[in-house]
Amino acid sequence: MTAKKKVGGLAGVSAGETALCTVGQEGAGLTYRGYDIYDLADNAGFEEVAYLLLYGALPTRAELDAYVARLKTLRALPDALKTLLEMIPGDAHPMDVLRTAVSFLGNVEPEGDFSNQAEVADRLLACLPSMLIYWHRFHTDGERIDVETDDDSVAGHFLHMLHGKAPSETHRNSLDTTLILYAEHEFNASTFTARVITGTLSDMHSAVSGAIGALRGPLHGGANEAAMELIERFDTPEQATQEVLAMLARKDKIMGFGHRVYTVSDPRNSVNKKMSKALADEAGDTRLYPVSEAIEKVMWDEKKLFANADFFAATVYHFMGIPTYLFTPIFVCSRITGWAAHVMEQRSNNKLIRPAADYIGPSLQPWVAIDDRK
Ligand code: COA
Repeated sequence: MTAKKKVGGLAGVSAGETALCTVGQEGAGLTYRGYDIYDLADNAGFEEVAYLLLYGALPTRAELDAYVARLKTLRALPDALKTLLEMIPGDAHPMDVLRTAVSFLGNVEPEGDFSNQAEVADRLLACLPSMLIYWHRFHTDGERIDVETDDDSVAGHFLHMLHGKAPSETHRNSLDTTLILYAEHEFNASTFTARVITGTLSDMHSAVSGAIGALRGPLHGGANEAAMELIERFDTPEQATQEVLAMLARKDKIMGFGHRVYTVSDPRNSVNKKMSKALADEAGDTRLYPVSEAIEKVMWDEKKLFANADFFAATVYHFMGIPTYLFTPIFVCSRITGWAAHVMEQRSNNKLIRPAADYIGPSLQPWVAIDDRK
């Protein structure tokens, strides 16, 4: 670690090396293993990107076909896990549900030694949507859904289980693109959590459970849900502008804006914004998209703060009929690829992650026997 001066939250501090991703780097922007995020979003499917992250190179056509087919065989849930999902209360937060479900999977399908780590990653990638939607549908409709649909893609499978029917091409592709955009982002808080856990030579399920806990908070993945709750409060762009101005005057944080690394824009936002507009037009929306644009404008005009990946992702999901409380779990279904790739990278050259701290407590105190204390 190369800390030269004390910086809050380790901002600007390099905490290690990675070959997986560049974030906002001069001349590179956002890349996964050297591929520009815009090329990936425009041309690849999520499973292709997952393969790139987990196996180190873009797949050939034959490799991709085999990979997609393999992931399809890994979607089923053990009966004991289904029972557990039925026992978790319906009003639990779905991020807590996923954290518990991943941890439980680590009991019934333990990783053991690390020789099957890629298989463990594929298993989690394939069955996270099954866990989430099985729990959701059981508690909202009382249905024990079949978690093995005939949709090839993670996105199609997710929407099919959620709505009980195959999604439209537009919805499948839009969700797929957001999964690509969310897949990897260098040493963000949840990925760093996963690497810290991995650094102790712990197992993949522990690393992923910890990462889910870190992603849950509104300063990280939880921002997409908080953004939707904000957008939905307003009926008109004018009302949104006025209220956001008042919130800024009160020094409230507006979720879905700002970033620790990016300074002028988040490259993922333009893609999400375009999809949000297209889906708004398709849905005949005349409220939420204009309100979102008004919030984006006032944040830039007043604070020079830009929308991050979470802000327009919120309405993209909303227009597909996805309930708000499932937004952050979708992030998990995508970021599992980045987390698992980092777990494997950490293991390939492992060193325990254990930084130092600057002590700011009291100086050495004389011992006082318990009856003499005041
Ligand atoms: N709304 C209002 N003000 C914001 C803001 C936001 N979303 N993001 C940053 N600011 C302001 C802070 O209040 C602070 O102002 P100050 O210097 O007057 O105190 C300044 O900008 C720096 O912000 P800070 O929170 O210290 O930066 P950070 O690097 O620690 O935090 C985030 C980065 C992402 C945590 C922060 O921008 C944030 O909380 N955003 C909202 C949550 C979010 O969207 N998270 C998802 C990130 S992808």
